[in-house]
Amino acid sequence: MVDQFDGRRILLAVTGGIAAYKAVELARLLIRRGADVKVIMTDAGRQFVTPLTFRTITGNPVATSLWSDPSSPLPHISLSEEADLIVVAPATANTIARSARGVADDLLSTTLLAARGTVVFAPAMNTRMYRHPVTVDNLARLRETGAMIVEPGEGDLACGDEGVGRMAEPVEIMKALEREIKRVSDLEGKAITVTAGPTREFIDPVRFLSNPSTGLMGFTVAERAARRGADVALISGPVSIPYPAGVEVIPVVSAAQMKQAVMEGMDGTDALIMAAAVADYRPKVVAGRKIKKKGGVPELELEPTEDILMAVSDVKGDCIVVGFAAETDNVIENAREKLAVKDMDLVVANKVDEADSGFAARTNMAAVIGPETGDVVLSMMSKVELADLLLDRLSGILG
Ligand code: CTP
Repeated sequence: MVDQFDGRRILLAVTGGIAAYKAVELARLLIRRGADVKVIMTDAGRQFVTPLTFRTITGNPVATSLWSDPSSPLPHISLSEEADLIVVAPATANTIARSARGVADDLLSTTLLAARGTVVFAPAMNTRMYRHPVTVDNLARLRETGAMIVEPGEGDLACGDEGVGRMAEPVEIMKALEREIKRVSDLEGKAITVTAGPTREFIDPVRFLSNPSTGLMGFTVAERAARRGADVALISGPVSIPYPAGVEVIPVVSAAQMKQAVMEGMDGTDALIMAAAVADYRPKVVAGRKIKKKGGVPELELEPTEDILMAVSDVKGDCIVVGFAAETDNVIENAREKLAVKDMDLVVANKVDEADSGFAARTNMAAVIGPETGDVVLSMMSKVELADLLLDRLSGILG
């Protein structure tokens, strides 16, 4: 069987920490698995280990500056474009802070800002630096933007202190890289439809019923699926966030239009992910002209919109159907009930009344649930992490 690292291009960035010596072992493990490893070293990184060590192990020249190689005038672009995966090990507090804030003034920072694929950070620093609220905030920001963090371990630190901050061992970092390398292309050849955002149900030409969905969850799922090689159609209600790259967007307004777009796309779709917050009710009658105040408070008679997932269950065939359950209480039980009633293959149970979870938040308190029974716990994670977890499950089912 071919090793999943075989021929994969890994960019290893070594920054200034004593754990730089462990990066040598990481490079060796990657090379042994067949990866093509290139190394960037910062000035501080070179205080700990010499470029010659990495050059000898990887067989590739080590990049140290934006300006050192006249044959490559844009090394940050070529290095980031070539890499299937970038791993920063050790990642100092400084590198993490600079990357989280988009600083771009040297080879590593510009390369990270231009990264096409996922960046994996293996932090290494003193406990107080690691626990400092600014570092905690920077790591959260990196996670939200799609980076992977390999948590440091606890123990004696080089500075003599004890606590968390010791870079994860190279074998642990390899496990994280194994998961990420799989995510580079595991959805190649799969056609995935994602719905996102709210729908609007008009009362008259200037008023509508809707909800606070921003589309971020569905857009993130679409963007991550496309990155993993899927052919993605994104059916989106009205939102004001930018469309993700590499995705076909089908804009819709109402639940009826969303249903029509979903049904039209069912043929040939391997998976449907219903992340949209579809309005459940619409006015029975839509006024053709603006309703004037002088007529008094209007009586609004509502009717249910059609449930798209219910309609899909009649025609889904082999298509894998994933739904979201937006809940405030009995989250897991209600999600499981929706999974069964709406004939879904997977459901994302999502607690929407928690601080930092649900509409407009960058994080979600959620769990991905299949038909299996057993204990499930909700965890707080970034919408990117949730999208990746969901797509891991989906990729396992699609094979
Ligand atoms: N959904 C749908 N069509 C609708 C309403 C919802 O396909 N008219 C989908 C959503 O996109 C989501 C799932 O059904 O994937 C669950 O939606 P949710 O709003 O959590 O639940 P509802 O079915 O609307 O039930 P309730 O409001 O009672 O919780």
